[in-house]
Amino acid sequence: MNCLAKQDWSTRDKMLELFMSAPNRTISGEQLSAALNVSRTAIWKQIKTLESNGFEFSATPRVGYRLTHVPDELIGPLVSPHLNKACRLGQTILWAPERISTNDTAIELAHEGAVHGLVVTAARQTGGRGRQGRAWQSPAGGMWFSVLVRNPCALSQAGDLTLLASVAVHRALHESGVETKIKWPNDILVDGRKICGILAQMRADGETVDYAVIGIGINANFHRDALPPDVSDHATTILTECGQPVDRPLLLARILNQLDTLYSSLAQGAGGFAAVREEWKTHAHTLGRTVHVRLGDTFITGYAEDVDERGVLLVRDYAGVRHELHSGEVLFSTSEKL
Ligand code: BTN
Repeated sequence: MNCLAKQDWSTRDKMLELFMSAPNRTISGEQLSAALNVSRTAIWKQIKTLESNGFEFSATPRVGYRLTHVPDELIGPLVSPHLNKACRLGQTILWAPERISTNDTAIELAHEGAVHGLVVTAARQTGGRGRQGRAWQSPAGGMWFSVLVRNPCALSQAGDLTLLASVAVHRALHESGVETKIKWPNDILVDGRKICGILAQMRADGETVDYAVIGIGINANFHRDALPPDVSDHATTILTECGQPVDRPLLLARILNQLDTLYSSLAQGAGGFAAVREEWKTHAHTLGRTVHVRLGDTFITGYAEDVDERGVLLVRDYAGVRHELHSGEVLFSTSEKL
């Protein structure tokens, strides 16, 4: 990301903060230009850009601009009022109308030294990535974001990190009135259909995870029919299930608040994670069932017994052999599509 782009988003976000806190959401061009230290032309350009992204303004001569409509995009000034005071995640939220993949941007920024808690969001992704190298459909109306966490845990606990993210999303969706189950390792389901996927990418330094980018995709405010048929067969959206849209900035803040709380449990080592793992098991869709786990081209079929303290799925096959599965894709029937 170049400096100009950085300058642009911070001016845009500061401008939105000014509007949101102004009486009647009205400010003159002169006040904006003085507060932001940019020209009136630059202010006008920002207003036009915001309008093209769903914001609406009315302009009254000698009074100024009034912000009349705010879309529920995952933009910093809309999310931060809902963050807990002590929450260390989401202090910086970088929104763009379109990105290739929020994970790619977050990894790039992590290499450039971005701090713990950075959140990268996008209204749409053109190259959204899923687990196992699959593409992730990311139309407008969804929640596509990535959270950068630095030094979250030992490498041996990397599996815990993803289970923990799914517990955070499960809790936040529950707060927003959406009841879900978790499919190992971290798919979130409603009535057996996937509503959210999580892609955690990490860089390890020796035995510790240097940083992790937790990419979360939630099928939120668009209809299931907006997805290609091979995806909509086994996926769903909040709008489809609840019949009404969810407040996306509020839901993002709830997820960040939960993630922040849960990461402190990781800092206490494996013991700290035990309670989170128990919670994951309470909401698990996978345990106690016959599963087919795809590992590349082969399948392990058996009974999903447990998830251990490393986040590893334990499956006992029909010959009584116990398999430890660190990764893979769980299917509940071999004909289930992914
Ligand atoms: C899965 O396959 O279930 C994981 C899907 C993860 C999708 C999210 S959307 C935000 C972030 N950016 C990406 O490119 N992928 C993740």
